[in-house]
Amino acid sequence: MAVSIDLFGKSAIVTGGGRGIGRETALLLARAGANVCIADMDEASAQNVAAEIRALGVGAIATRTNVTLAEDTQAMVQAAIAAHGRVDILVNNAAVWTTKLFKDMTPQDYDRDIRVTLYGTLNASRAVLDVMTAQKYGRIVNLISDAGRIGEPYLTVYSAAKGGVAAFTKALAKEVGRFNITVNGVAPGITNTPGAQGFIEGAGGAEKLAKAYPLRRLAEPIDIANVILFLASDMSAYMTGQIFSASGGYTTIG
Ligand SMILES: NC(=O)c1ccc[n+]([C@@H]2O[C@H](COP(=O)([O-])OP(=O)(O)OC[C@H]3O[C@@H](n4cnc5c(N)ncnc54)[C@H](O)[C@@H]3O)[C@@H](O)[C@H]2O)c1
Repeated sequence: MAVSIDLFGKSAIVTGGGRGIGRETALLLARAGANVCIADMDEASAQNVAAEIRALGVGAIATRTNVTLAEDTQAMVQAAIAAHGRVDILVNNAAVWTTKLFKDMTPQDYDRDIRVTLYGTLNASRAVLDVMTAQKYGRIVNLISDAGRIGEPYLTVYSAAKGGVAAFTKALAKEVGRFNITVNGVAPGITNTPGAQGFIEGAGGAEKLAKAYPLRRLAEPIDIANVILFLASDMSAYMTGQIFSASGGYTTIG
């Protein structure tokens, strides 16, 4: 008998779901049966993913959401409830990063990285919390990064923002566990997405970078989406406040 993850009847929101890891996650949650709200600043890409999901026979909507704006994240949650009746799963995936030495970064660069990556996660989490608390069920999965665990040169402010998301994950887990809400993080290594292409090419290409990884390859979005699916499901019901690296063994810290 096969073991499978069944999210039938669940309602999920994926921020930054229009491309890359977010898109793959939205599709995988839908293949497990969840109705999905794809929330992205780029509405056209979010609409495309929603159409792909509806073609699977599962409910999907797209919202034009800038996670740096609290009111946008509140509207996103209202839209998901209007379409799918509830919100069980939030994947805080939207993030941006500036790839520069810190000495070359401007305050505008920091502001952008921290606003989207850290404040965006706070805004979306705050927006779902009352709903999840009232229904006494929730799964919040935050995208972190190995950069936020060990620090990466050329990604200093992004490392700081993701370190903030990691600490938030642990602290919020302790506040909301009593409401049957789990909060966990996934820390990818370099993953083959549109957003990472500039970094991969600038660092000499995927083959060169893969040499630093025990599994000798960079991640594909599905490698990350699989871990998110587990954390979004009841297979992980007794795990909260944890951060899981999905980085081919690049980091092996606890
Ligand atoms: N790709 C990697 O190598 C890598 C490594 C570690 C962690 N991560 C993390 O994984 C997540 C996804 O990364 P990716 O590589 O798929 O990114 P990506 O750049 O390919 O896609 C990001 C998506 O987020 C959307 N977005 C950007 N700013 C937004 C905002 N303010 N509001 C709403 N949506 C916004 C974009 O429109 C885009 O659709 C991020 O949290 C990232 O930090 C990625």
